[in-house]
Amino acid sequence: MKKDLLRISELSRDEIEGLLRRAIELKSMQKKGISHQPLAGKTMGMIFEKSSTRTRVSFEVGMMQLGGNAIFLSPRDTQIGRGEPVSDSARVLSRYLDGIMIRTYSQEMLEEFAKYSGVPVINGLTDLLHPCQVLTDLMTIKEKKAGLRDLKIAWIGDGNNMANSWIAAAARLGFELSLATPASHRPDSKILEEAERNGAKINLVESPLEAAKDADVINTDVWASMGQEEEYEDRKRLFASYQVNSELLTAAKSDAIVMHCLPAHRGEEITDEVMEGPQSVIFDQAENRLHLQKAILEKLLG
Ligand code: CP
Ligand code: NVA
Repeated sequence: MKKDLLRISELSRDEIEGLLRRAIELKSMQKKGISHQPLAGKTMGMIFEKSSTRTRVSFEVGMMQLGGNAIFLSPRDTQIGRGEPVSDSARVLSRYLDGIMIRTYSQEMLEEFAKYSGVPVINGLTDLLHPCQVLTDLMTIKEKKAGLRDLKIAWIGDGNNMANSWIAAAARLGFELSLATPASHRPDSKILEEAERNGAKINLVESPLEAAKDADVINTDVWASMGQEEEYEDRKRLFASYQVNSELLTAAKSDAIVMHCLPAHRGEEITDEVMEGPQSVIFDQAENRLHLQKAILEKLLG
């Protein structure tokens, strides 16, 4: 049976750990110049209803490095953008393709597509979740910190798609997750309840300093996500005290690392000084999208 990757909560702890281990192996193979092409002859379609630099390029390059091909499908130039039903598009495209990655607004649309697709579907970001990014971030932490289980991870800012995927990861892997968001912008309540039912160690607070206290990892993201452009000015005011800056870093452990999925708005959610500083692992994190996604592609399309 085909397997999709729509949410981290669909993966078991063993599956997540397997992906992280494999991504680290694939990275080391690539650095040594070892060719590995298990997807020769396979093609993945990539539907982007929102912009992307990292997700698009890393999936496309990842497919090529694994011996396959990737096709970029813009809704503007396909019938998807003209209202062809999702269930029809999914059935047609999956007769040509071996896998489909989708970046879209609605998680329901993605799940509807996956229901009708005969080939694996990968979530390349929705308004609700960004699983490939958080799996990459876990890989990056594993490289920098060895184990994950005993860490305190802090999330500073919006309770958005990234925060929701972090919550799902905490439920599976058992690390402590402390999220500082304004009360009006907490993460998704259903995701939170599900994670708490599964024993996740989650702490929701309003104070960034409280979340960052003694943390091993400090994580942030933009204050206005794609699709929230009209709220940008209001959000800038609301989130002004949720900035990852050198003062906030002093609350964390002295060897804490700083992460951001990018793109960043320097001077808003993170200062230039912290982004370029010695504790930032942000560009390693961006590179790891390639390696982690190759592990996903190998598992689902291989
Ligand atoms: N982090 C991330 O998903 O980046 P892109 O929007 O550039 O794909
Ligand atoms: N939360 C951001 C992540 C971008 C990769 C957004 O959805 O725009």
